[in-house]
Amino acid sequence: MTGNSFGKIFKITTFGESHGKAVGVIVDGCPSGILIDSLYIQNFLNERRSYNNPFTTPRREPDLVEILSGIYDNKTLGTPIMLMVHNKVQQEQDYNHLKNVFRPNHADFTWYSKYNHVDYRGGGRSSARETVGRVAGAGVAYKLLELQGIKIDGFLLSIGEETIRAENINILSIANNNLLCPDDNMLAKWQEILEKAVDSGDSLGSIVEIRIRNCPIGLGEPVFDKLNANLAKGLFSIPAVRGVEFGDGFNMATKHGSKVNDSMYIKDNKVHFSSNNSAGILGGISTGEEIIIKIAIKPTSSIRIAQQTVNKNLQEEILEVKGRHDPCIGIRAVSVCKAMCALVIADHLLQANLYKDS
Ligand SMILES: Cc1cc2nc3c(=O)[nH]c(=O)nc-3n(C[C@H](O)[C@H](O)[C@H](O)COP(=O)(O)O)c2cc1C
Repeated sequence: MTGNSFGKIFKITTFGESHGKAVGVIVDGCPSGILIDSLYIQNFLNERRSYNNPFTTPRREPDLVEILSGIYDNKTLGTPIMLMVHNKVQQEQDYNHLKNVFRPNHADFTWYSKYNHVDYRGGGRSSARETVGRVAGAGVAYKLLELQGIKIDGFLLSIGEETIRAENINILSIANNNLLCPDDNMLAKWQEILEKAVDSGDSLGSIVEIRIRNCPIGLGEPVFDKLNANLAKGLFSIPAVRGVEFGDGFNMATKHGSKVNDSMYIKDNKVHFSSNNSAGILGGISTGEEIIIKIAIKPTSSIRIAQQTVNKNLQEEILEVKGRHDPCIGIRAVSVCKAMCALVIADHLLQANLYKDS
């Protein structure tokens, strides 16, 4: 099985399965001499974990990160950094009813068809437990970004059909709630529809928005390593992602050029853009403007509602998925989307030789 690594210079390889002993990451290509400790990385894992949230999976893993190599005396050595998180909370019996059946819209059918095995205990490596490794690896990438003044924000733009209007987004509001909701007036509605979904054993789709600020001009390598191409690849590699849109994206396809072109002007001897429909990337290279990405996340496929499916014996059966699941994946996916962006930007800083030691 290939495809476990991502990145060109700043490269991660994740390992582990949902119900194996541990999950984690090996980060290769990180420059030496960067001050970082496990607490810094732990903060990002805590963000992903979303404890004390009735609207995320009841699997409450402590997700404590252990540094096994590549960092000594709180400084990177320039050698491979191995970060490991032990899986502690496993309730394998919850998954017994899935031993022979393929969950609709999950990875079971394709994995079984391709590899002749599937880990019914939470999906094995196709489980979102794998994203722990990405977020841990991104903890190192965030440090590189922080040293260059680059900041990544992420929030939920919509849950189900309830979308926040652009003019109502206030990123500061995210800190006030456990749904990463940037509009105080939307919160009650989101809680209401989530409660209904949980009560009825159903799930909801969502849209995540990511904003990357203070990127230098010049990140992105034409032709196949364009910044938007690699961001899209990183984001599409996250389980349950069904769409990635940059800036005005699909909306642009319905407009005239005169309406969407970002006109340019000079102020203080610098080039500025009067709008940012192209979301901070032109020709695959960052313009220095904010990079804005929307990510469509499908509703959780594992639902308690009875669904028609098939089993390994090629028989049809009705399945009600039990066990611990996120009713809306987007809530925890925000931290994973941010992580993939941090990894791509760190890699491109190094590729473009724009990373400066402080
Ligand atoms: C943060 C996160 C949490 C997830 N939680 C669940 C879950 O609780 N139950 C579930 O069935 N799928 C969950 N998923 C989605 C599955 O992992 C995913 O649907 C599955 O691997 C099939 O891949 P695909 O949706 O990309 O086709 C989660 C995904 C992410 C990113």
